[in-house]
Amino acid sequence: MLGVCYYPEHWPRDLWPEDARRMKGLGLTYVRVGEFAWSRFEPEPGLHDFEWFDASLDILTAAGLKVVIGTPTATPPKWLVDRHPEMLAVDPETGRTRGFGSRRHYDFSSEAYLEACRGVVTVLADRYGTHPGVVGWQTDNELCCHDTTLSASPAARDAFRLWLKARYGDVAALNAAWGNVFWSMEYRSFDEIELPVGAVTETSPAHRMAWRRFASDQVARFHRAQLEILRPRSPGRFITHNFIPMNETGVDNHALARGLDFASYDNYPLGRTDLLMKHAPAEVFKPWMRTGHPDFGAFFFDQTRGLAPGAFWVMEQQPGPVNWAMHNPRPAPGMVRLWSLEAFAHGAGVVSYFRWRQAPFAQEQMHAGLLRPDSTEAAAWPEVEAVVRDLAALDLDATPRGRARVALVVDVEAQWLGEIERQGRSYDYSAILLAYYQALRGLGLDVDFIAPDGDPADYALILAPAVAMPKPALAERLSANGAVVLFGPRSGAKTADVTLPEGLPPGPLRSALPLRVLSVETLRPGCEGQILWNGRTYSSGRWREEIEAGEGLSILARYEDGAPALVRQGQVLYLATLTDGAFLTDLFEDLAQAVGLAVMRLPEGLRLCQRGDLVFALNYASEPQAAPAPPGADFLLGGPVVAPRDVSVWRRPA
Ligand code: GAL
Repeated sequence: MLGVCYYPEHWPRDLWPEDARRMKGLGLTYVRVGEFAWSRFEPEPGLHDFEWFDASLDILTAAGLKVVIGTPTATPPKWLVDRHPEMLAVDPETGRTRGFGSRRHYDFSSEAYLEACRGVVTVLADRYGTHPGVVGWQTDNELCCHDTTLSASPAARDAFRLWLKARYGDVAALNAAWGNVFWSMEYRSFDEIELPVGAVTETSPAHRMAWRRFASDQVARFHRAQLEILRPRSPGRFITHNFIPMNETGVDNHALARGLDFASYDNYPLGRTDLLMKHAPAEVFKPWMRTGHPDFGAFFFDQTRGLAPGAFWVMEQQPGPVNWAMHNPRPAPGMVRLWSLEAFAHGAGVVSYFRWRQAPFAQEQMHAGLLRPDSTEAAAWPEVEAVVRDLAALDLDATPRGRARVALVVDVEAQWLGEIERQGRSYDYSAILLAYYQALRGLGLDVDFIAPDGDPADYALILAPAVAMPKPALAERLSANGAVVLFGPRSGAKTADVTLPEGLPPGPLRSALPLRVLSVETLRPGCEGQILWNGRTYSSGRWREEIEAGEGLSILARYEDGAPALVRQGQVLYLATLTDGAFLTDLFEDLAQAVGLAVMRLPEGLRLCQRGDLVFALNYASEPQAAPAPPGADFLLGGPVVAPRDVSVWRRPA
């Protein structure tokens, strides 16, 4: 269940056999190769050199390793860029062409680049699709990373016009849908429409939403082209992609994942914690500096698991200090093992380390690997050895993850709306999603993520922090199997073209929730108001809706002035404000207990996770913590006291 990312093209040939032997000796099974090697696969236009790759695959395969080939389309070679300079994207902020010299230098709307990708992927798939050592494919690498979804190139503008024409039919319909009578924004033809960049002040929110949807479709189209080539040429092999989070891709990751066998994720807990906690004071940040925040890795594991049917992979696991965050500490001893076991607890099928050996050259020479550049074992090595032993004790293949009882609805349109129409500077959809997630995880609950059109299955509790533009009868559909469903503020806030819905928000949710949102206010941090619930007071500030509660709604919580803030009808609740973590924890505890779920308040550094009948207790803290296992529990790893940065696993009694 373990693997590694390897770049044979970075090393002299005489190292390859020894590398393969040591990988196998360490207990690794999978090796990912090739994803940045275009300039070696095709050194001159149309002139391929696969001799070196054949040789390296033979060596890896002969050593008993299973090969995953990454398509090299994240790094087009210089000759291709020189042939088609129009394939480069244009930075929407600066108007500058994003040139050659790093990676991801391409425009998703460039037909010439798409053709070139079809070419290289076809050649690779024809040659290696049925290679006995090849078990699967990774498409491209971290699509959209480095902010590459949006481009202001002429190619993007032309494709956007066609996309708009296909969607709206005639320009009068577009003008009406977007409200272009406002500020004389009306167009006489689709050819007059520019990308929403470079204007004096804010452009139309409908225009920007259309651009986001278009860009998301372009990425999915680009990706699909690779699936269509690989699938028929590589029967019986899997196809995956290593995703980055939705708020960073800026695209609909669910749509992007369509057609994949499973989704993968690249897990860099320290880098991510450095970025996600960039505003945290040192004393809040420091406890997690070398461990990562206990909820961040899991937050993305659970989202990745929800993208595609099969067990997700961690395609890249941080093994030591990285090079790309604002600051790059060393992991605390034990954390590489803990992160690996945590991924398995959340349902991973494979954890693959990035990278085998630290490169002594180029951009990532300060990024650790399992080996140092001189081939000696780096700090992560013995931890991977420990993971191999742990896996032998757990037999996870026989223990798939299964569904959680609680689901969070993740809505890409709410993400986009929050970026397009901020309304309050501190409104941040992905932070809201994370706050809901943290409250649930702090109660010891396992969480699945579903899209608004996802399967409500047999969840007992479904929480939707915001579904911006719900389809009719969403609340009825989500609650149909008996779940209690909560919608957060800004749900039903808009129509598909970012106008206010007829009859006021929450628009189509009003069929289940007879209420109207009369006005919205957003308050500065430090200037919050309050809500009162169950005799307790909590803060309410970043987003506050004034709601009129209709017939049949019960009012559960009120603002400081007595106006309704949380209402319920039947199984469906509406929370009209963004509040604090304490409120979310208290409310979710109450709701979970009412639907019969067992909850417990976990200390901040301790997290629980169930995979089949195995319960994992993961201790991120620097002190030992008691594992909440039943008396006489059968421990497969660790024991009733979880040492710092350690993991205990026991079997849940039948
Ligand atoms: C990932 C990327 C890898 C490597 C790594 C460094 O985002 O996929 O190619 O750059 O980061 O941490």
